[in-house]
Amino acid sequence: MRVTGARPAGAEDEAGAAQAVRQMFDAIAPRYDLLNHVLSANVDRLWWSRTARRFKPILADPDAAVLDICCGTGDMTMALLKHRPFGARPILAADFSRGMLSRGAKKFSRDREHGPHAVALEADALHLPLRSESLDLIVTAFGFRNLANYEAGLREFHRVLKPGGQLGILDFAEPGGLMGKAYAIYFRRVLPAIGRIICGPVSGDREGPYKYLPTSVGNFPPPPEMLDLMRTTGYADCAWKPYTFGIAGLYTGKREV
Ligand SMILES: C[S@@+](CC[C@H](N)C(=O)[O-])C[C@H]1O[C@@H](n2cnc3c(N)ncnc32)[C@H](O)[C@@H]1O
Repeated sequence: MRVTGARPAGAEDEAGAAQAVRQMFDAIAPRYDLLNHVLSANVDRLWWSRTARRFKPILADPDAAVLDICCGTGDMTMALLKHRPFGARPILAADFSRGMLSRGAKKFSRDREHGPHAVALEADALHLPLRSESLDLIVTAFGFRNLANYEAGLREFHRVLKPGGQLGILDFAEPGGLMGKAYAIYFRRVLPAIGRIICGPVSGDREGPYKYLPTSVGNFPPPPEMLDLMRTTGYADCAWKPYTFGIAGLYTGKREV
């Protein structure tokens, strides 16, 4: 069966899935950064920087309108800000989990006086409170996979992008071969155990969030399917660049003119 969107355990429809995802991120928000860095041995920083570098030419334009959607605690946004010139238009950093977003907002305000900054916006990626054809760039890191409807997400991004505007989706993937087998053991057994130790005391849920991550990656459409979906929803020049043996990767495309 073709996967249409994230379905955390117990969610019966899209509204239920979105609610479960939001509650899960609200619950783990206090430990999210720590969990991330431990689980990825800080490789996540390289992935955010690499993604930001890919969009350097747009970010260098002070008037470019940029959205980091599903920004969470803001590390992707901070990597994008490094490439913004002084006096540039603020980056919009949006997420529907208040717990995650409030932590990101603290990081953005810290740097506000010293240079380019970001503005936090509580918003649902599937219903963005933004004008059609208003953005030059949308980036999302490890958030797209959590949307309740992938096609609806791509269509909503398409609506708010200007013709020719660019999209970057950084997310996990499942590598093949021997590397894939070794990684599957880490991802399905070691990672949930570490997650339980780090987040258990704050999330109050002994199993859910740590089982959800590997399941959601397993259910996420593989690159050829994602690229097809991007093309059919109106994106051109679609490509996928694997990062770190294909554990993660960056999808890119631009809104057809
Ligand atoms: C794994 S975190 C990634 C956060 C950050 N981008 C990073 O790279 O660390 C996924 C984020 O997506 C957000 N999210 C999931 N579905 C969303 C939706 N429909 N609208 C807005 N945010 C959403 C969650 O609240 C969460 O903060």
